[in-house]
Amino acid sequence: MSEDAAGDTPAWTREHAAGLRRDDSNVAPIIYPPEERIDEDLHIWDTWFLRNRDGSIAEIDGYRVIFSLTSPSNLLPGKRHDVATIRYFYSQDGEHWTTGGTVFDGDTLGQRQWAGSAMYDPEGDEGEIYFYYTAAGEDGADELTYTQRLALATGGTVSTDGGLSEGGASSDVPSDSGFSIEGPWDHQILLTPDGDWYEREDQSRGMIYTFRDPWFFEDPESGETYLLFEANTLVPEGTGACDDPVWEEFNGSIGIAHSPTGDPTEFELRPPLLDAVCVNQELERPHLVVRDGTYYLFISSHVHTFAPELEGYDALYGFVADDLQGEYEPLNGHGMVLTNPANAPFQAYSWLVYDHGDELLASSFFNYFDYNRPNLDDVSLLPEDEQMRRFGGTLAPTVRLGLDGKQTNVIDTLDHGHLPLQREALPKSWWDAESKDGG
Ligand code: FRU
Repeated sequence: MSEDAAGDTPAWTREHAAGLRRDDSNVAPIIYPPEERIDEDLHIWDTWFLRNRDGSIAEIDGYRVIFSLTSPSNLLPGKRHDVATIRYFYSQDGEHWTTGGTVFDGDTLGQRQWAGSAMYDPEGDEGEIYFYYTAAGEDGADELTYTQRLALATGGTVSTDGGLSEGGASSDVPSDSGFSIEGPWDHQILLTPDGDWYEREDQSRGMIYTFRDPWFFEDPESGETYLLFEANTLVPEGTGACDDPVWEEFNGSIGIAHSPTGDPTEFELRPPLLDAVCVNQELERPHLVVRDGTYYLFISSHVHTFAPELEGYDALYGFVADDLQGEYEPLNGHGMVLTNPANAPFQAYSWLVYDHGDELLASSFFNYFDYNRPNLDDVSLLPEDEQMRRFGGTLAPTVRLGLDGKQTNVIDTLDHGHLPLQREALPKSWWDAESKDGG
């Protein structure tokens, strides 16, 4: 596989990205607005599960829990990132979600909180939940700033109404008081960019730098503890890293930090797992699925963060290697796994993939739906009332993906926000189709 300017970081190259295109294997069905959003008072976007230390989805007295970035639903959707607040939602069946409330009570780091991950460890030394998030913006600054640091909150605990038998949801439980998360939390900054492997804000040459979206990961092969994150590779001016100097501003990377002792509160930066110098500026929300010793690394990215002369998409992209720090190569040759239809190119974003038996499931949020404006690539140009009307602001239908070695394909979708646990069977149809194919 080709190497980047830094020498030995696996690279997503312009040659790979030149092969990006929509086809039957990677286009999701069109999304129609659901009858009900998860919460009519909230815009909901980036979302993640409460997980056990080994990455499996936590199930606490019959409840599964998701966390989302949220803002009031009467806010212009484009402004939501400036006020993002993390809330939790819980469910007994993975289909109906109850709003639990805000995770923190104002004692956070950063001017606002962006995406992260949450690990449930009832045996942990510091409460039951290790909550990793992006502290966005400088504390105490008068103006909104875009500094990004990886933060951790510890000390949170959960309480439930108890007594749900395993896997069974009992109907006499009042769903609005079934599950809650309580502080007090202790917040700390875990990591900032080193300015060498990972670009600092003051070194950034193009769009705003990235250093965000911490993702807790315990390697099932080695048992070692890591944190993945979105970052940028330092590309000093004049080094000729790309054929065209303008492309050098497109320098996204997937960062990783290691905990030498396994302590989930202590991490050291390590060199990036992969980068996309000359290709793409934002490799968002990196996360891994490990299947039979093979590592599948997923990110989301936008059409507008690809370097000039490349045609990209708002899409889920994936890479595969046979080691955590292995020679990642793009799935399907070019990297694209799942995208939006050509007539609704921004209908979903911020995908999160998890393993389900033979399939992968990809959750995401319902973003802008643009049936009549397929070529619109900057929604902020729409009149404000249209921006409001066209923003989904809730979870998108979960997409079922097939995975065969280095190839993926879209199978089908579940409902908006339907997030089954591994032990819960998926609808039969696909299995029938499979057996017809003799699979
Ligand atoms: C992806 C993203 C994340 C970030 C969040 C901010 O949708 O850009 O990388 O944490 O949105 O709203």
